[in-house]
Amino acid sequence: MPTDPRDVVEHLRYYADLGVEGFSRDRAWRARAGTPSRAAAVTPAPEPRAEPASPSLAPHVTAPARSRVEALAIVRTDLGECTRCKLHKGRIKLVFGTGNAEARLMFVGEGPGAEEDEQGVPFVGRAGQLLTQIIKAMGLELEDVYIANVVKCRPPGNRNPEPDEIEQCEPFLMRQMDVIKPAVVVALGKFAAQTLLRTTEPISKIRGRFHQVGDTRVMPTFHPSYLLRNPAAKREVWEDMKAVMGVLRGNEK
Ligand code: URA
Repeated sequence: MPTDPRDVVEHLRYYADLGVEGFSRDRAWRARAGTPSRAAAVTPAPEPRAEPASPSLAPHVTAPARSRVEALAIVRTDLGECTRCKLHKGRIKLVFGTGNAEARLMFVGEGPGAEEDEQGVPFVGRAGQLLTQIIKAMGLELEDVYIANVVKCRPPGNRNPEPDEIEQCEPFLMRQMDVIKPAVVVALGKFAAQTLLRTTEPISKIRGRFHQVGDTRVMPTFHPSYLLRNPAAKREVWEDMKAVMGVLRGNEK
């Protein structure tokens, strides 16, 4: 059994290609009737951590509790030590995203700033503190949501991300969303909103109402950095968040 996480990922992919959609950690499953089980013939190993199936087993379906966590880990592995665009040259840390892989609510920002670049965690600077306040005001904790950005590496001097950079990074954001399958995504600011909605409309025009993207509702709103410069706009953002809470509670208008 491979122990290196990359090998495990390859191993899991191999089985996925064969049609295996999940793995049980239950020993009984390995020795189930009709299966010429190698595992049953040897002294049982200690409880496996993320053990792939024995090659002798036929495909089966089990939904492991950590499947979204593992699926996100695969996306992260695929992203690797990314050099797909020029932003990698100036980064300290790639900022993949943090939070709950099972979140019903996801926030998408623009790209890491200086503090995020240092820590490898999204929204930990001043804008992040404001975002945390907004999340708590919604009755949620950071652990309840997932937070990511359109670009995963800091644009130099916090300049806007450029189209080629967004183009390279966006597929990984989409894969994160595909894995998490949040009911609602809040797009923070112009770049997140325009990327997710594939539009060039200004944020002031598209914010404040839901846009359907696949199975997910996207609520564009102002970016917390904008709110730091324009505190009066907090009122509009709060209206947007109330609409989001309505959907999450199942009593949307
Ligand atoms: N602004 C963003 O858009 N994302 C971060 O992670 C931090 C600040």
